[in-house]
Amino acid sequence: ATVFVLNGPNLNLLGTREPDIYGANTLADIEAMLEDKAKRLGLAIDFRQTNHEGVLVDWLHEADAAGAKAVLLNAAAYTHTSIALLDAIKAIGVPVIEVHLSDPVTREEFRHTSYVGMAAIDEVKGMGGPGYAVALEKAAAL
Ligand code: DQA
Repeated sequence: ATVFVLNGPNLNLLGTREPDIYGANTLADIEAMLEDKAKRLGLAIDFRQTNHEGVLVDWLHEADAAGAKAVLLNAAAYTHTSIALLDAIKAIGVPVIEVHLSDPVTREEFRHTSYVGMAAIDEVKGMGGPGYAVALEKAAAL
């Protein structure tokens, strides 16, 4: 079974981007760690990043068409703005788990709303890169 791991805007800059908030791991580090975890769980992962909202919508549709077991979605800032992502999650049959490195609810007020969270079945927040592995365990248990 395959789990899609979809990452949104600015996550390509992890490692140098506000490391006090997001940590020193790059997205490639997180991908390598998750590949290892996936192998041990007997899962395949399809790991992607885009800075474009509509591409995330397309990839959610693609996960559904591919019969993915689950999607781990860190939609980054689009989490807090995107009704299109909310609608896409509602439109597909694949369960979506919301992931964030930081915990947005402890940060600025504009990060407190999560459109993704209105349709996601579960969430992992505030655990940094290792949170992706926790989310993959949740996906494996579905
Ligand atoms: C984030 C949290 C969002 O509020 C922010 O816009 C991001 C990253 C996180 O992983 O902590 O870009 O999704």
